[in-house]
Amino acid sequence: MDERFERYVTELFAAEDPILSKIRARHAAEQLPAINISPEEGKLLFVLLHAIQAKRVLEIGALGGYSGVWLGRALPAGGELITIEKDPKHARVTREAFDMAKLHGRVRLIEGAALDVLPTLVPGFDAVFIDADKEPLPKYFVWAMQLLRVGGLLLCDNAFFHGAAIDPGDTSGNAVGVRKFNELAAKDPRLAATIVPVRDGLVVGVKLRDTA
Ligand code: DHB
Ligand code: MG
Repeated sequence: MDERFERYVTELFAAEDPILSKIRARHAAEQLPAINISPEEGKLLFVLLHAIQAKRVLEIGALGGYSGVWLGRALPAGGELITIEKDPKHARVTREAFDMAKLHGRVRLIEGAALDVLPTLVPGFDAVFIDADKEPLPKYFVWAMQLLRVGGLLLCDNAFFHGAAIDPGDTSGNAVGVRKFNELAAKDPRLAATIVPVRDGLVVGVKLRDTA
């Protein structure tokens, strides 16, 4: 998206409150990689969760908790966001972010590698947001489809992966993982999906049925 339009959307629809600004600033202060979602992407996630009245949401890859705050704030009392983070420092920063946002009780951080944690989760999630390492994305796809309820949302960040999605010459593990994920999302008969061109691209899909 043209940066001017991005700014327009952010300023009009996705202005951060001081808590979100502070949490985003802490990503830099704690020297986390500058790969957090943008405010307008956060607002899109927030709108989508409200649209389906999501109560149980799973995030794969917490980073520093910025996206988790957008997701957690979309949940009603009694709702729960489970977020998985394998990096201990990222997990600490995320916990601090959730404290700052006063989201206790509505968010649960599970520290560990996603592929170890996913098999322990009870299926029936209303939405799964994937924003983690890219090489295992095809495996995350399989797990997400298994854990989502019918009518639930599959959401995945970095659908374009800075252009690697449309560059078959990029044979890095990350690029291959992203392209494979997009192909799975496009072709799986259990899913209706597309890419919303927000920031680096967001796959948005709805699970239509349990079996092909
Ligand atoms: C990058 C960006 C992301 O949003 C992410 O989740 C992972 C990596 C990147 O720019 O490399
Ligand atoms: Mg990302």
